[in-house]
Amino acid sequence: MTNHNLKHDEQESEIHGKGYPFHITQEENQELRQKAASAIPSPVISQASSFDEYVQQLMIPPVVMDMARKAENMRLSPWEIAAMRKHLAPAKHHDKKIGLLRKILHKKAKADPSHPPYIRVACTGKSHYDYLAEADGHIHKPLHKKKGDVGSPVVLEIWPAQHYSPIHSHGETTGIVFCLAGQLDVMLYGSLDGNAEKLGLTTLTPGQCAWLSKDTYPVHRVFCPLDGGEGKTGPGFINSTEEFGASFHVYLNEDETPMMPHDEEEHHDDNEQHHSHSRNAFDFIKEEDSKKGTFKTHSDLSWHVLRRVLAETDLT
Ligand SMILES: [Fe+2]
Repeated sequence: MTNHNLKHDEQESEIHGKGYPFHITQEENQELRQKAASAIPSPVISQASSFDEYVQQLMIPPVVMDMARKAENMRLSPWEIAAMRKHLAPAKHHDKKIGLLRKILHKKAKADPSHPPYIRVACTGKSHYDYLAEADGHIHKPLHKKKGDVGSPVVLEIWPAQHYSPIHSHGETTGIVFCLAGQLDVMLYGSLDGNAEKLGLTTLTPGQCAWLSKDTYPVHRVFCPLDGGEGKTGPGFINSTEEFGASFHVYLNEDETPMMPHDEEEHHDDNEQHHSHSRNAFDFIKEEDSKKGTFKTHSDLSWHVLRRVLAETDLT
C-alpha cells in the first residue's frame, strides 16, 4: 500500500468512525457483539442460565474449562492495582519522574511504533527489562542484562488504556485470557490476514474468561477501551492516564493437553522447528503493510521482580 493510499484510507476511516484499533463503524460494533454473544462455542466461559447458553458452553473443551476453573477466584488486590497505576502514570509537569511500567512503555514504543505497547509479565523465567527495576533501586541483587526467556506458559499482561495488540495467532496452543482488572475488548478473527473475517467482539471484565485452541478462536486482537486521555489511539500513540486493564494468560502447547481431541492426529517431526505454532512465538499481522511477521514471546518483566517493585511502592 502506498503512503498516498494509506492516508486516503485513514481519512475514510475518520469519516466513517472506523478508527483504530478495530476499524469498524458503530453499527458493525453492535453486530459483532451480537455475533460473539450467540457464537457456538461461546468465546467467553460462563455459567449457563438458559438452554441456548448451555449449548454455547457445551462445546468448550474440558482442558479449557479446567484452566478457567483454576483461575476463577484470581483478582489483583486493591494495593497491587494502586501500585500499578502509580507506575503507569504519566510525568507531571513539574516533575519528569515516571514509574517503571511507563518507562518500559516508552522503550517498547520506541522499539516498535506500529501499535501502542502493552506489557508482558512472565510468571516463570527471566525478562527483558528486569534490569530497569534494579536501576530504579527496587531490586538490590544484581540481575542479568540479557534478553529474557521465551514461552512462559503463564503471563500477566498489562494493557494501558487505549493501547492494543496487533492481530495475532496463538498457533497450536490451547489457552485462556482471564480478566483480572479494568476492562478489555477482544476481537476474534477467522484467519491471520489483513482482511480477515471478524468473528465477533466481546468485552471482558474482572472474573470473565475468554479461551482459544488450535481450531477455535486462535486469532485475536486485544484492546483496553478505558480512558486514555487526549488524542486518538493508533500507531505511535501513548496514553496520558494511569488507567489500565490486566489479564492473566495461560497457554499450553499441544503435547501438554492430553484431553484435547487432536491426540490421534499425526504429530510433527520432533526435529522440525515449529516456533510459531508453540507458545515460544506467535505470528502477527504488521499494522503498516498487513504482512505476516513472527514475534518471539520475550517478556518485559518477571512476576517475582514486579511483585517486589509493587510491594515497595509508596502509595501515600
Ligand atoms: Fe493473544
